[in-house]
Amino acid sequence: MKEKIITKNAEKTQEVGKLLATELRGGEVISLLGDLGGGKTTFTQGLATGLSVKETITSPTFTIMKKYPVEHNTIKNLYHLDLYRLSNPQELADLGFAEIAADPQNVTVIEWANKAKEIIPPENNLQIRFGWLGKDKREITFSTYSRSPACRQAGSEIPIRSGRTSKQTKGEVLY
Ligand SMILES: Nc1ncnc2c1ncn2[C@@H]1O[C@H](COP(=O)(O)OP(=O)(O)OP(=O)(O)O)[C@@H](O)[C@H]1O
Ligand SMILES: [Mg+2]
Repeated sequence: MKEKIITKNAEKTQEVGKLLATELRGGEVISLLGDLGGGKTTFTQGLATGLSVKETITSPTFTIMKKYPVEHNTIKNLYHLDLYRLSNPQELADLGFAEIAADPQNVTVIEWANKAKEIIPPENNLQIRFGWLGKDKREITFSTYSRSPACRQAGSEIPIRSGRTSKQTKGEVLY
C-alpha cells in the first residue's frame, strides 16, 4: 500500500519528519528516495528535531555518513547517509553499514537509498519517496509494504495524522 502527503513548504515537510520521529522505537532503516531537491534532507531535519538532536543536520554528501547523538528512551544515535555519489555498494559495506543498520539503538536514514538497495536489510525498512511538484510543492509517498509491523504502522499512520491526500491499495516496494 502507498500513502501520500503533499506539502506546501519546507516547514511542512519538516513537520512530517518530526511526526515520523514519534513513531520510531529504534532499529528502523528509512530509505529516502526520489527527485533531486525533493525534500529528503529537509525531512531528515524535522525527523532529527523530533528525536531531540541538538546539532544542525546538513547534507552529508561529501562524507556519505554522519552520526548524531539522540536524546530518547530507546534510541541512541541517528545515522544520516547520502548515497548520491556512491559508485559501489561495497563502499558502504566497508563503513560497517550492516552493524549500524542492525543495531536496535540506531535509526538510520538513507538519502538515495536506491544506490545500495542490495545491502539494505528489508526487515526494518521503511521507504519514503519525494516528488518535486513545483517550486514549493512536494509529494511524499510512504510505502507500507515493510516486513516490520512498526514500519508498516508508521507508513500508514503518518499520512493519516498529517492529512492524507490520496491512497492506493496495491502493495508496492518503492525502489
Ligand atoms: N514543500 C517542500 N518540502 C521540502 N522542501 C521544500 C518544499 N518547498 C520548497 N522546498 C525547498 O526545496 C529544497 C529541498 O531540498 P532538500 O535538500 O531537502 O532536497 P533533497 O531531496 O535532500 O535534495 P538532494 O537530492 O539534492 O539531496 C530546500 O531548499 C527547501 O527549502
Ligand atoms: Mg539531500
